[in-house]
Order: sequence, then structure tokens, then C-alpha cells
Amino acid sequence: MFTKAIAAILALPFVAQFASANTCTRTYTAQAGDICDSISAANNVSTYQLAVVNAGIIDEDCDNLVIGQSYCLGWEGQDCTTTSVVEANDDCDIVSYEAGINTTILYENNPQINYGCSNIYIGEVLCTANTVQVPPAPAGSTPATTIPATATPANPDGDLPWCDE
Ligand SMILES: *[C@@H]1O[C@H](CO)[C@@H](O)[C@H](O)[C@H]1NC(C)=O
Ligand SMILES: *[C@@H]1O[C@H](CO)[C@@H](O)[C@H](O)[C@H]1NC(C)=O
Repeated sequence: MFTKAIAAILALPFVAQFASANTCTRTYTAQAGDICDSISAANNVSTYQLAVVNAGIIDEDCDNLVIGQSYCLGWEGQDCTTTSVVEANDDCDIVSYEAGINTTILYENNPQINYGCSNIYIGEVLCTANTVQVPPAPAGSTPATTIPATATPANPDGDLPWCDE
């Protein structure tokens, strides 16, 4: 009883903080064999968005998914459902062109992409909507900027400078 009450009191600010901030619009229950990018690709959620929505829940390497656990995929008003999966030899110009958008909006919806677009990787899921739809990056650091150790860079040499924009 006593410990239960203490736990409830301790949990209160934590719950309140997250409950008041964002409403989850869609969820996914993890299954055996899932990785973050396969979940993202199958559900039209960008790699960046999944990482932001699950900051502090799914770790940076995405190696702590729990089978049977439900994960939020998007927040109300900040949920991009127009996505495309990066393929070999893609760069930001190609991805933008194929999606019918400009690179400015691509960068705004995928703030983890570096200048030069050299850190996108095969299997990464990008938001290719034509308006800004993703949540802003948490203060301090932008998630998903690092190419996972198991992934293959799509554009390691980067875009040619005169091809930007
Ligand atoms: C993802 O987007 C594609 C293309 O628009 C669509 O065909 C598919 O039904 C969507 N899947 C989900 C789970 O929303
Ligand atoms: C890029 O596309 C967005 C959305 O259509 C538009 O608002 C913006 O002006 C465009 N930017 C450039 C540099 O063309």
C-alpha cells in the first residue's frame, strides 16, 4: 500500500508531462523480427518521426524494441503519412524529384539530413509531404542523424554543391 502510493505520486509528474503534450494518432504493436525502419516503411512513418515520437522509449540504435509493446507512430497535427524509402544511389535531389517536392521542404520534414545529404541510407524512410508535417526536433539533439552501423549509405559522397536546392 505504502509503496504503491509513493509510486503513484512519483509517476504523476511524468505522466502529466507526456499526456498533456501530445495526442497519439496511431500505434503499432511490435512483432518478432521488427526493426525500426521496417516498422516505419510498413506504416508510412518516417525514420525521424518514429525516433522523435519515441525519444526516451526506443533507444538510438533501436535495439530495445519489446515484442507485444505498443508504440506511438505519430502525434496529432504533427504526423507525416506521405513517405518514401531510400534506395541505392538516391540523393536528396532524386528523392525530392520523385516525390514532386523541392529539397527545401524535404529538409524541413527530415531535419536529420545533413548538409550535402550524405547521411541518408538504404531503407531509411523519409517524409516526402509537400507541407511541413513532422514534429520539431527535441531541444539538444536531432535524432536519427547517424547512419546505423548495419545500414548502407545511399549517397556517401554527398550532393554536388551546385545541385543543392
Ligand atoms: C502507405 O502509403 C501507401 C502509398 O500511399 C499506401 O498504398 C499504403 O496503403 C499506406 N500504408 C499504410 C499502412 O498506411
Ligand atoms: C518549396 O515548396 C514549398 C511547398 O510547395 C513552397 O512553399 C516553397 O516556396 C518552395 N521553395 C522553393 C525554394 O522553391
